Amino acid sequence: MSHVEEVAARIVAIPDHPEPGVTFRDITPVFADPAALAAAVHHLTDVTRDLGVQRVIAAEARGFLLGPALALELGAGFLLARKPGKLPRDTLAVEYALEYGSDQLEVHADLLEPGTRVLVHDDLLATGGTAEALCRLVEDLGGEVVACSFLVELSALGGRARLAPHAVHSLVTYD
Ligand code: PRP
Ligand code: HPA
Repeated sequence: MSHVEEVAARIVAIPDHPEPGVTFRDITPVFADPAALAAAVHHLTDVTRDLGVQRVIAAEARGFLLGPALALELGAGFLLARKPGKLPRDTLAVEYALEYGSDQLEVHADLLEPGTRVLVHDDLLATGGTAEALCRLVEDLGGEVVACSFLVELSALGGRARLAPHAVHSLVTYD
């Protein structure tokens, strides 16, 4: 089985969750299965290995599932983007729109040197609001976003176009 098949076989479709007409893609079985977990890390690092990634940035909570594993495998560091008020030192914050209202993400401002090559990672790309906010955090600190990577992409929600011109790598895509 290929890495992609190994992971895709473990993603469970939950019809009508959290509301009628929505199919929720449950990725928790990927993390429970040693072979699928390894395949996910290997695939996502294979497609980004030549980009000279120096830091991986991801948002709590589910971006933290694979972010540090990708960083370790790429020989990069990991930057935590957290919800407001969680980080104890000077932060840079970005606000981003949710379906209803808005939210913020913060990063410790002294952990990213200008010119650093950064991979934006999240478990899932839906509207792209979260990943776009991560790109803005990186760029506001003078870093360079070299690509964005996701375990799952829900392509109908338009996240890929929203992240343009950044390259987007998704392991599994659903319409
Ligand atoms: C989910 C997911 C992504 C985001 C994708 O996170 O983990 O971070 O939504 O959606 P978007 O592309 O429309 O921004 P959620 O906000 O549910 O938080 P969690 O990681 O804490 O579960
Ligand atoms: N799966 C997991 N997380 C999500 C989804 C989904 O289908 N849609 C929005 N966040």
